[in-house]
Amino acid sequence: MTKNIPHRLYLTEDQMPKQWYNLRADMKQQHDPMINPATGKPATEKDLYPVFCEELAKQELDNTTRYFDIPQEVQDIYKIYRPSPLCRAYNLEKALDTPAKIYYKFEGNNTSGSHKLNSAVAQAYYAKQQGLKGVTTETGAGQWGTALSEACSYFGLDLEVYMVKVSFTQKPFRKSIMETFGGNVFASPSDRTEAGRKILAEDPDNSGSLGCAISEAVERAVSSDGYRYVLGSVLNQVLLHQSIIGLEAEQAMAMLDEYPDIVIGCAGGGSNLGGLIAPFMRDKITGKKDPRIVAVEPASCPSFTRGVYKYDFCDTGKITPMAKMYTLGCTFKPSANHAGGLRYHGMSPILSKLYHDKYMEAVAVEQTKVFEAAVQFAKLETILPAPESAHAIRCAIDEAIKCRESGEEKTILFGLTGTGYFDMTAYAAYNEGKMSDHIPTDEELKPAIDEIPTIPGIQE
Ligand SMILES: Cc1ncc(COP(=O)(O)O)c(C=O)c1O
Repeated sequence: MTKNIPHRLYLTEDQMPKQWYNLRADMKQQHDPMINPATGKPATEKDLYPVFCEELAKQELDNTTRYFDIPQEVQDIYKIYRPSPLCRAYNLEKALDTPAKIYYKFEGNNTSGSHKLNSAVAQAYYAKQQGLKGVTTETGAGQWGTALSEACSYFGLDLEVYMVKVSFTQKPFRKSIMETFGGNVFASPSDRTEAGRKILAEDPDNSGSLGCAISEAVERAVSSDGYRYVLGSVLNQVLLHQSIIGLEAEQAMAMLDEYPDIVIGCAGGGSNLGGLIAPFMRDKITGKKDPRIVAVEPASCPSFTRGVYKYDFCDTGKITPMAKMYTLGCTFKPSANHAGGLRYHGMSPILSKLYHDKYMEAVAVEQTKVFEAAVQFAKLETILPAPESAHAIRCAIDEAIKCRESGEEKTILFGLTGTGYFDMTAYAAYNEGKMSDHIPTDEELKPAIDEIPTIPGIQE
């Protein structure tokens, strides 16, 4: 009997998860601890207090608490824009003539246009609880900065956003949205910080990177009274908050009596992917199920597929704690690829460990192929995807085509992290045939990898 599966399935408000899930509690082995570069020793919760809010520092280092209650105030905001729908891409399946069933979890239904609001709300809430005046952050594509501006405006917090210069120039309206919510936005590298001034002195035309913007935001936070730094990806706490995506997806699929054979997500710093896969990875680790889990990254910034698994700084200015992760080196400058949110040198330590231990796979895709998939998807499913999200679409289409060739009726789930209405420069370049692909050579990758620091007794 054919099941009557709707195009879009929404949980009710009552069905929404009331707790975040901490995948670390089920991992057989933890990732190596963050290192405080000042002591060369694992960072303690207290070491993190000057940088992060106290509750978030606690979440960052907690490898054992399986579930964290979502504070009621955070749930109340989630209810304004969640649950997000689990969608069935019927039109895409038909166009691809595939026996595969393609589902996607759409996170673009809020002003930030992405999943980033899920962690922004949580982080702003904890900052307010601690009585802080404001927070600082970086943003690449602008979605995180927008999400945090919304969240800070809701809780009455000041916000400084350091936005990667290339995106600042490509997407002027992103700045306007952040300002609409009261955020103060600066192109990074800026002359407001030591880190920014140093980079500009060496290279006045530097177009910025997430690593550089992080240095600036951290420097401002630690040198301003009543401020802390918040980050939209990479950190364990961010993956924890983003688990809401996976928990909702798991529940909605169970209501349809479905379970994914393949779970696919784009990977910048790993937050949407870590959130989407959380319950499915739990099932894989505990042996309950065995889905394939695939990270998709740009060929121009291939941290998983061509990076090294080492301790590195999370920022270019080398002021953050060091994390063991797949990295291209904190001084790596990716080419001006249009998926701004995927231009980060490192990767979540949790995902890095899972990848290293072979629980997940990774593929790197070229941006013209990504936009080909984005346009096909937009025409069929009426959502204009963000370039970052389109990386997952590319991979989902490729997997569905493989099913067509093999005749296998697999169930594919991918994360559609956001919409691309601020990425029209990129779409225009693609439509006009002016988009090119840059795949760095080994020689181009080598200098930043060679510069990854040593830590006496830990990493020679
Ligand atoms: C729409 C969208 N998807 C994905 C990403 C990648 O980030 P992450 O790997 O943390 O999910 C970003 C980052 O800015 C984004 O804006």
